[in-house]
Amino acid sequence: MKENFMEQFSTLPSVPAEANLVEVAKTLLENDSSIVVVNRGNEILGYIDWKDIVKLLISGGEDLRVKAEEIARPIKEEEMAESIEEDLHDIIVKIRKHGRIPILTRGKDGIRRKISPEIVITRLANLHDEERKKRTDVECLINDMMDVFPIGITLISNNGNILISNKIANDIISGKYKDSKEFVKIFNREQAEVVKYKEGKFYRICSTPVKEGFLVTFTDISNEYNMVEKLRSSQHEVEVAFTMMLPDQRIEARLKSIVEYIDQYDEKSGMIKITGVIKEGCFKHVINMLKLIADALNQGLLELPGMDKNTIVQSTILHDIGKVQPSLKIGDIVNPKEVFEKGYLHAFRSAELSKALYNIDEKVYNLIKFHHHEESELPKGFPEYLLPMYRFFRLIDGLSAGITRRGSKASMKIDGTKIFVKEESNFPDYNQEFEMDIYTGYYQTKRPL
Ligand SMILES: [Fe+2]
Ligand SMILES: [Fe+2]
Repeated sequence: MKENFMEQFSTLPSVPAEANLVEVAKTLLENDSSIVVVNRGNEILGYIDWKDIVKLLISGGEDLRVKAEEIARPIKEEEMAESIEEDLHDIIVKIRKHGRIPILTRGKDGIRRKISPEIVITRLANLHDEERKKRTDVECLINDMMDVFPIGITLISNNGNILISNKIANDIISGKYKDSKEFVKIFNREQAEVVKYKEGKFYRICSTPVKEGFLVTFTDISNEYNMVEKLRSSQHEVEVAFTMMLPDQRIEARLKSIVEYIDQYDEKSGMIKITGVIKEGCFKHVINMLKLIADALNQGLLELPGMDKNTIVQSTILHDIGKVQPSLKIGDIVNPKEVFEKGYLHAFRSAELSKALYNIDEKVYNLIKFHHHEESELPKGFPEYLLPMYRFFRLIDGLSAGITRRGSKASMKIDGTKIFVKEESNFPDYNQEFEMDIYTGYYQTKRPL
C-alpha cells in the first residue's frame, strides 16, 4: 500500500535558477504541470505557478527577461507536507490547519512531488471504504456473537426504535408481543418484569438506560422460578394437610378472618405506624407454629417426658381463635396500648371457647389460657409438669410471630432439653440469638434484642 501510494504522486518538474521565462513555460507544457520547482544545485529556491508566467506575459516589458530565481515563490510551511510515506495523516493535518491541500511533499528519497487533490480524494475514499468494511465486519461479528449469548439482548433507541436485537430476544418479542411497538412501549423505561414464554419457560426482562436509549436483557430464570412455584405448591399442600386435621372447618374460617399487622414502633412517642396488613395472618401464624413443631419433632424434643405432640398441636390450632384485632389500614399511627386488646384477654377467651366447643383436656386448656402470661405471672395452681410444654409453646408462638409478621428466618437447634434459637429478619432490631432450657426455664440471650 505504501509503494502504490507513493507512485500516485507525480515527480515535480524543475528548472535551474537561471532559466528564462521561455524555458520555464516549456518545462510546464512538456510536463503538463501547473507548477515548476526552481533549483540551484540541490537547493530548492521555490516554485513558479503557471499563473505567474501568464501575469508576466500580460504585463510585458522588461519583466519578460527575468530569471526563474527572481520570480520563484518561496515554499511556505503550509504548502509543504513533509512526510506522506506512512499515510495521509500529515496532509490531513495540514488541510485541517490551513484549510487547503498542500502543494508539495518531500519524500524520504528527497524527491519533491506535487500533491493532486484528485489523488488525495481517491485515497481518502479508499480509506473510508476500508474503514466501513472493517466496521461492517465487526458489526457482523458482534451480531454472530450476540446470537450465541445465553441471554436475550435488545437495544432500544431514545426515540423508540429497536436498534439491535439478538435471536433469543427476537424470538421472545415476536412470540410474546403483538408487535415490536407493543414491546418497546412496555420496556423503554427503567423496569424489570418476569414474563412467561412458552410452557415452563420464564424470562426476567430488565431495562436499563444507556447512552443511546435503553438496553433490555432477557434472562432465563425458568429453573429458579419453577423451584419457587414448587415451594409455593408444597406450602399450599401443608395448608391443605393442616386444614384436613382441623376438627371443624369453622376454625379455618375463624383463623383466616383474623388479620395481623406489620408496624413500625416509634420509641419517643410510644406510637406505632401500620406499614402492612397480612391477610389471613392468624392462619399463617398457626401454620408457621406447626412447622416449628414438626422441626422440634424431627430433632427429638417431643420425645422428652413432659412433652406431648398432640397437646402442643391442639393448643397451637386453638390458642388464638378468640383473638380480636382492630380495623387498621396502612399509614395509621396509633397507640398500641389503646387499640390492641391485652394478650391475656384473647388467651382466656380462646381457652373458654375451645373447652366449650372442642372437648379439650386440662393440659390444652391451661396452655391456651396462659400463653400470654410470663412465667412469673402464672397462678399458683398452674401444674408444674406443664412448664416444659408451656415454655416451648410460648417460644414457638413468638418465633412464628417473627416469621409471619417480619419475614424472619428462625432456626432451632435442639440439644436434650436445651433449644438454641437464632432469628434474623429485615428488621435488625428484632434479630436475636438465645438459649433456653425447657425443663429448668434457664434463659440466656447471646445477642440482646
Ligand atoms: Fe396469642
Ligand atoms: Fe399466637
